[in-house]
Amino acid sequence: MAIQIKSTTEIAKIRYASQCSAEILTMLNDVIKPGITTIELDTICHQHIVERGNIPACLNYHGFPKSICTSVNHVVCHGIPGSKKLKKGDIINVDITIKADGYHGDTSKMYFVGQPTPLAKRLVTVTQECLYQAIQIVKPGIRLGDIGFTIQRHAEKNHYSVVREYCGHGIGRLFHEPNSDILHYGRANTGSTLEEGMVFTIEPMINAGHHAIKLLSDGWTVVTKDRQLSAQWEHTILVTKTGYEILSLREEEKQGTFHSLLT
Ligand code: MF3
Ligand code: CO
Ligand code: CO
Repeated sequence: MAIQIKSTTEIAKIRYASQCSAEILTMLNDVIKPGITTIELDTICHQHIVERGNIPACLNYHGFPKSICTSVNHVVCHGIPGSKKLKKGDIINVDITIKADGYHGDTSKMYFVGQPTPLAKRLVTVTQECLYQAIQIVKPGIRLGDIGFTIQRHAEKNHYSVVREYCGHGIGRLFHEPNSDILHYGRANTGSTLEEGMVFTIEPMINAGHHAIKLLSDGWTVVTKDRQLSAQWEHTILVTKTGYEILSLREEEKQGTFHSLLT
């Protein structure tokens, strides 16, 4: 079972769930500040999600204890919201997956807490460029290896490294569809060929130092082995007849720096 082809009805539902997730990421722009804890972010997001009658898909997913993932500084992914306060200079990824009417939408973005260091700013920017460059090549006929190759090339050109152990995934009724790994590294012209109607996430995790990671004893939190910074951005993508649609696109992206990439 590779990446499934979705019907128009299913796509509409994934688009809705993705947009609900995206709106919460936008809402957080004004919430993330020095002094706030990641538990508080979790509570705010949880409330927004359930108020709309939707389900936070991370909560109890294989035992995950909270509604969102919050990954600060050297945390690569799957950080568990906790009582530590964010401080000036931190970078944080918030990853939100909502289930609405039986279908999932999964997206994440990076935030700066106060002024970022030049390294943090560059890492976060290059990681977003990795995601956008990969999205831009999506169309029927390209192969999965082309996506991984594009991300790895841009990361390594900037002397960063690509995390190997976690990848994008087909998404729909299931949060993570089986056998649908979207690797963020690889060789061009290899792997399965994309077809119109496929829906999957691209979610590169890029490290400032070495790509090696370590899983903490809580069983979830993934950190860089060398304790250097890591960044991640994620979108849920539909393969259209001629290209792609970013189902989780935020308003700020339509107007922002990457406008030219999206036309
Ligand atoms: N949202 C993550 C992803 O992009 C998965 C989080 S699973 C959780 O695939 F259990 F940690 F929430
Ligand atoms: Co996610
Ligand atoms: Co995902």
